Amino acid sequence: MARYLVSGGAGYVGSHLVDLLVRQGGEVVVIDNLRQGHRAALPHAVELIEADIADTDALDDAFESGPFHAVFHFAALSLVGESMRQPLRYLRENVGGGLTLIDACIRHNVKRFVLSSTANLFSDTGTGPIAEHATIAPGSPYGESKLIIERALHWADTCHGLRSACLRYFNAAGSDPEGRLGEDHDPETHLIPLVIDTALGRRPPLTVFGDDYPTADGTCVRDYVHVSDLAHAHLCALRQLDTRSVTYNLGTGEGFSVLQVIKAVEQISGRRVPYRIGARRPGDPATLVAASTLIRTEANWHPKLTDLTTIVKTAHTWRAAHPLGYGDRGVLEEARPGALPLDPTKGRALGTQYLGAS
Ligand SMILES: NC(=O)c1ccc[n+]([C@@H]2O[C@H](COP(=O)([O-])OP(=O)(O)OC[C@H]3O[C@@H](n4cnc5c(N)ncnc54)[C@H](O)[C@@H]3O)[C@@H](O)[C@H]2O)c1
Repeated sequence: MARYLVSGGAGYVGSHLVDLLVRQGGEVVVIDNLRQGHRAALPHAVELIEADIADTDALDDAFESGPFHAVFHFAALSLVGESMRQPLRYLRENVGGGLTLIDACIRHNVKRFVLSSTANLFSDTGTGPIAEHATIAPGSPYGESKLIIERALHWADTCHGLRSACLRYFNAAGSDPEGRLGEDHDPETHLIPLVIDTALGRRPPLTVFGDDYPTADGTCVRDYVHVSDLAHAHLCALRQLDTRSVTYNLGTGEGFSVLQVIKAVEQISGRRVPYRIGARRPGDPATLVAASTLIRTEANWHPKLTDLTTIVKTAHTWRAAHPLGYGDRGVLEEARPGALPLDPTKGRALGTQYLGAS
C-alpha cells in the first residue's frame, strides 16, 4: 500500500486530495497546524500530526514512520491581500516552512513532491488564457513565496533527484459531490462561498469591486476548477514524476464574471443575492484564465465536474447543510463511523468581503 505525506491536508483542497488517496487504497499521514484546517475534514484512518511544517523534529518523526511514495505540499498562508500588509511574514512562513519540508524530503530520501502553486505568479495577464510559459512576475509577496519554492524544487531535482510537480491553481471551488467535505475558511475570502452565504442571509450584501473592467459585463472574470477535479489533477501529475519534473497551470480555460457567479447562485439557491457595486481594488486583473492544455495532453487530466452549475450546486449543498462549517456536528461522522468528535467551539466568521483569488 502506497504511503503519502500531505502537508496542510486538513484544509480545503488538501482534504479533498486526502479523501481521494484513501479511497484509492492509499495510507495517508497529514501534517497540519490546524490554523485553517479541521480534524473533522479527515477520515478516521488518517493520522494527523498537529504541527507546523517549520518544526524539523515533527517532520523527522513523520518521515521516520515512512517511507513515503510522495509528499503533497498544501500548507501555506494564502491570502493575497494579507500578504501585501504582512510581506515578511508570508515570505518567512511560506518560504521557511516550504524549504524545511523540501530539505526533510531530501534527507529522508523522498523522490516525489507535488506543490500547490498559484496563478498569482503571472504578471500582466491580458485577456487570453495564460500558458505555463507566460511572463512570471508575482503580483504579491504570497505569489513571490510560491515562486521561490518552485525555484527551490528545480534545484532540489537538479542536485538531489527530488522530482516535483508545480501545480499553479487558478481558483479552486465547489465541494465533494457526496456532500461530506466543504470549504470552511476563517475568514472566508473566496467569491463563491461568500455569494452563497449572502444568498442564505448569513452575511450583509456583497460588494462587487468594479463594473468597468474590459469584460463582457464589466466585472472581473476568473477561472474556477472544481476541487474534486483539482484533487484528481494531483494524481495525474504524480504519474509524470516517474520520468521527470513538471509544471502545469491548472484551470479550465473558461472564465466566469462576478455577475455570472451571482446569477448562478441565485438560480441554484432560489434566492436573491443583494449586492452593490464598489470601487475597483488595486491589483485586480480584469481576466485571469488558464490555458490548461498541457496538463490535459501530457498528464491525461480530464475534469468532470468543472462547470459553473455543478461547482455552485455542490458548494451550496455543503454550506446550506453546515452553517457552522466543520463546527457543525456530523460531517464525516455520518459517512465514516468512528470519526473523531467535532470541535463545537469552531464556527464560521461572517461578514468578510470578497478579497480575491489566491
Ligand atoms: N483555494 C484556492 O483557490 C487556491 C488557489 C491557488 C493556490 N492555492 C494554494 O493551495 C493550497 C491549499 O489551499 P486551500 O484553499 O486548501 O487553503 P487552506 O487554508 O484551506 O489549507 C491550508 C492548510 O494548511 C495548514 N497550514 C497552513 N500553514 C501551515 C504551516 N506552516 N504548518 C502546518 N500547516 C499549515 C492550514 O491549517 C490548512 O489546513 C495553499 O498552499 C494555497 O496557497 C489555493
